Amino acid sequence: MKFFLDTADIAEIEEAASWGALAGVTTNPSLYARVGGTLAAFPEHISRICALVNGPVSAEAVGVTREEIIREGRELSALASNVVVKIPTTVEGLAATHALATEGIRVNMTLCFSVPQAILAARSGARYVSPFVGRFDDISEDGIEQLSLIIEALANYDFSDVGVAKENVEVIAASIRSAQHVTQAALLGADIATVPFNVLKKCVEHPLTTNGLAAFEKDWEKVKNL
Ligand code: E4P
Repeated sequence: MKFFLDTADIAEIEEAASWGALAGVTTNPSLYARVGGTLAAFPEHISRICALVNGPVSAEAVGVTREEIIREGRELSALASNVVVKIPTTVEGLAATHALATEGIRVNMTLCFSVPQAILAARSGARYVSPFVGRFDDISEDGIEQLSLIIEALANYDFSDVGVAKENVEVIAASIRSAQHVTQAALLGADIATVPFNVLKKCVEHPLTTNGLAAFEKDWEKVKNL
């Protein structure tokens, strides 16, 4: 499973990239608002992220109609070769995805919550489909169970006949809130987990690692003082 970082924060991306495991970034309008981004600075911000990451960077179109989404998608994809246009799973989004995929533009269909949505996204030519986990948990439903249904259903088929450059669709486990979600997504065979930076840090940590290191440091002090 590949790790993407779910953030628009440049410092977080630089830090995660330095660890060597960062395969991509996903952003959304809320994440961009969180870093104080302005409309005018958005293209430059996405370009900066693209230069930092050796992998796909999802930038979301905010248009409502297919015409608006297609126009934005073209503009976003022109920013850098690793831009992936993120489009919500709606009727207008599917139509825009189909049009953009036909032009060879990679799309990540987001806000995906069901098996039919995921299959329609894949059939429209999306390169990535992003089932959301945590938002199901937020409404007291089992997000991991929903992710597992989507992974199982998509694995039944080969969508490379409609994809960009004959690549099959990849599942991005999104709305990840914990290291436990990461474990479960990996066991289900999600191609990618996109995780907030605080969750990525938690994925590195383990109390036995912390305690073991403290014991080694203490014992090394004894060695030094002999
Ligand atoms: C996906 O790409 C989204 O940016 C993200 O995972 C949403 O997560 P949230 O539910 O924590 O906002």
